[in-house]
Amino acid sequence: MTNIGSGPGRSRQTRIYVRGLGGERPAVPVMPERLQEAARARLNAADFAYIAGGAGAERTMRANLAAFERVRLWPRRLSGPRERDLSVELLGRTLSAPLLLAPIGVLEAAHPEADLAVARAAAAENVPFIFSSQASVPMEECAAAMGDSPRLFQLYWGTDDEVTRSFVRRAEACGAQAIVLTLDTTLLGWRPRDLDLGSLPFLRGRGIAQYLSDPVFRSRLAAPLPAPAVQPPRTPALLRAGTELAAKGRRFGLSLEQMRSAAARFTATYTRPDLGWDDVSRLREWTDLPILLKGILHPDDAREAVRRGADGLIVSNHGGRQIDGEVAALDALPGVVAAAGDLPVLLDSGVRTGSDVAKALALGARAVLLGRPYVYGLALAGEAGVREVLGNVLAEFDLTLGLMGVGAARDLGPEYLAPSTQP
Ligand SMILES: Cc1cc2nc3c(=O)[nH]c(=O)nc-3n(C[C@H](O)[C@H](O)[C@H](O)COP(=O)(O)O)c2cc1C
Repeated sequence: MTNIGSGPGRSRQTRIYVRGLGGERPAVPVMPERLQEAARARLNAADFAYIAGGAGAERTMRANLAAFERVRLWPRRLSGPRERDLSVELLGRTLSAPLLLAPIGVLEAAHPEADLAVARAAAAENVPFIFSSQASVPMEECAAAMGDSPRLFQLYWGTDDEVTRSFVRRAEACGAQAIVLTLDTTLLGWRPRDLDLGSLPFLRGRGIAQYLSDPVFRSRLAAPLPAPAVQPPRTPALLRAGTELAAKGRRFGLSLEQMRSAAARFTATYTRPDLGWDDVSRLREWTDLPILLKGILHPDDAREAVRRGADGLIVSNHGGRQIDGEVAALDALPGVVAAAGDLPVLLDSGVRTGSDVAKALALGARAVLLGRPYVYGLALAGEAGVREVLGNVLAEFDLTLGLMGVGAARDLGPEYLAPSTQP
């Protein structure tokens, strides 16, 4: 078959259709809704709830998607290039496409290889991976699996500054290109899907690998904690949870007692409700790495971030997992871009397709973070599944640019949005 005009979109399309002649269908669905549905069918109820769920009545989650529905692209005809340049500049480096993998905690809920599978997929596709503070695999192991491929580290700042500092030092040592400080999780949001199942993964020792592998956190394990206010009922389920905790402990060389202490200590210390702007200034002093602030929605916060020496902003509402009924990330984007001056602004929360990437860039984002969709790919087919999802999103982005008459991702701007949806 001859390719007339090429690029990742065209070649991917051709491959899928040609295989389809032989009756083969993609194992990882291309349609976002079918992708989520297939992952739901694969996962147990608690794991799917943790990944798919949001805060409260999940209005923010729906608003994120609705905002992308509302924005309309405005293509130009007969000006399409034969090849598109998807690359963009970020923090002095060139990204091969305006896409990063969002930091997602507890990836073992989706697949046993968890962050390691994602790290390999990111490296294979040359897409930066933002390691989560709540990863299931220590950052050093993921970094080792990535060679020279780009990685960043997302920081949750808990109540123990020495642990936070240790995380930053470790991120520097494993070649992170930036620290992504998440601002929207100073408390854990109210998440009814998890609450109805009584399910918080951290209590089972899941999603705390950065802590279990951290020398400072480990040095705290012998110190007594206040007696817990609530005790779990002594049931077979509790026994199973203990077995899981013990198995996790063996991986990190910790006894069951130490694991119980680690889970309790993590839960008591990993968020800090009074995190403030002065802490951003302190982080600025602790590291020479660029700092991206994740969770910015208000222009005044963007301006303060500039004053505090941030190097970039990520407009995000954490995928609607924190506050029910808050502003959709895409709706907040133009105001933050206008206030950010020269700082690059990234966006996540609701990005599902390549056309969504184009809309975010047209509204001023330098790049976007892909979240839940890659986790669904991971659930379905591990590393290969993440690569499929990435490939599909980039293919559609490439085709969208070509069809819109845009030669390079960096050329997208408000002139490519229908007048009614221009900022
Ligand atoms: C299961 C899950 C876990 C997440 N864990 C983290 C995390 O550890 N750190 C963080 O900054 N954001 C975390 N996020 C938020 C993502 O980085 C991103 O903001 C969000 O997924 C974007 O929404 P979307 O996936 O609906 O597009 C998590 C999101 C999900 C769905």
